[in-house]
Amino acid sequence: MNLGRRPGMWCLASVFMSLLRDILTSPSCWQHAILFNRFNYPFELEKDLHLKGYHTLFQESLPYYPKSMKCYLSRIPSRMPSERHQIGNLKKYYLLNAASLIPVLALELRDGEKVLDLCAAPGGKSVAMLQCAYPGYLHCNEYDSLRLRWLRQTLESFIPQPLVNVIKVSELDGREVGDAQPEKFDKVLVDAPCSNDRSWLFSSDSQKAACRISQRRNLPVLQIELIRSAVKALRPGGLLVYSTCTLSKAENQDVINEILNSHSNMTPVDIKEMARTCSQDFTFAPTGQECGLLVIPERGKAWGPMYVAKLKKSWTI
Ligand SMILES: C[S@@+](CC[C@H](N)C(=O)[O-])C[C@H]1O[C@@H](n2cnc3c(N)ncnc32)[C@H](O)[C@@H]1O
Repeated sequence: MNLGRRPGMWCLASVFMSLLRDILTSPSCWQHAILFNRFNYPFELEKDLHLKGYHTLFQESLPYYPKSMKCYLSRIPSRMPSERHQIGNLKKYYLLNAASLIPVLALELRDGEKVLDLCAAPGGKSVAMLQCAYPGYLHCNEYDSLRLRWLRQTLESFIPQPLVNVIKVSELDGREVGDAQPEKFDKVLVDAPCSNDRSWLFSSDSQKAACRISQRRNLPVLQIELIRSAVKALRPGGLLVYSTCTLSKAENQDVINEILNSHSNMTPVDIKEMARTCSQDFTFAPTGQECGLLVIPERGKAWGPMYVAKLKKSWTI
């Protein structure tokens, strides 16, 4: 968000930043979208949501939008109760920040593809991917063992057994996956660890804040290493989507620019069309990149922050 050096623009920027901060630090403003589980479709809930004024996300036609994915949202902040995990029972819906669906849709998943979710826990985007298509193989990886358990539980709660058989869950450092499985995947999602602005701003006490500031400095290095590994894991012609839930330019545009400058086999894919078709439900800030979108929270559309960048691996190096 380079708003130039004019005083009027600075003033506008500071009003804007304070509005943004208000939303990020007030959970009462946060909205929760309801992603239906196509494997246990909630018909009754759907009627109820219509009566309550909810609408479906991406009503405008996106260049790619699978009909099997249904996500409902309301302009008024509200929160459905989460369903309890019960062994043997599939859940009917997943509550999420609607902007989380943008990286999943940017992957343009098709049936039969080999897909890697490099940083997968707690599994929201893996569940969303499976609402879009039936992959031939889905590899969900997570480095943190506690979060890995959460990921397994999410998959067990939403995905029927026959489909679970095409999913592999691993507990690897994502930086090693590319060397272990070179050029294996058609699509790779790197939903990277980042300085998550919602939880960082909301829960920081001074000790935590100091620790987070020092972690923050190291994040771009980790993010670049994760993408490098993802590039190796991707087959030529495959698509890579990188996402974070931070506004930090150092973790967003700068990371992607570094990858583009150091990988002649990666080319940016223009995703501005996505922003045009879903501007009713999301507010976007300029990123200075054709391949990068940044959703910023606004009252009534308190989704994000979410940065999404899309790259393609070329056939020849
Ligand atoms: C933003 S979260 C992923 C959210 C997830 N994609 C979802 O939609 O539910 C980032 C995840 O990356 C994991 N992570 C951190 N370092 C990692 C590494 N080196 N390799 C793989 N995963 C890592 C974190 O533990 C965290 O669960």
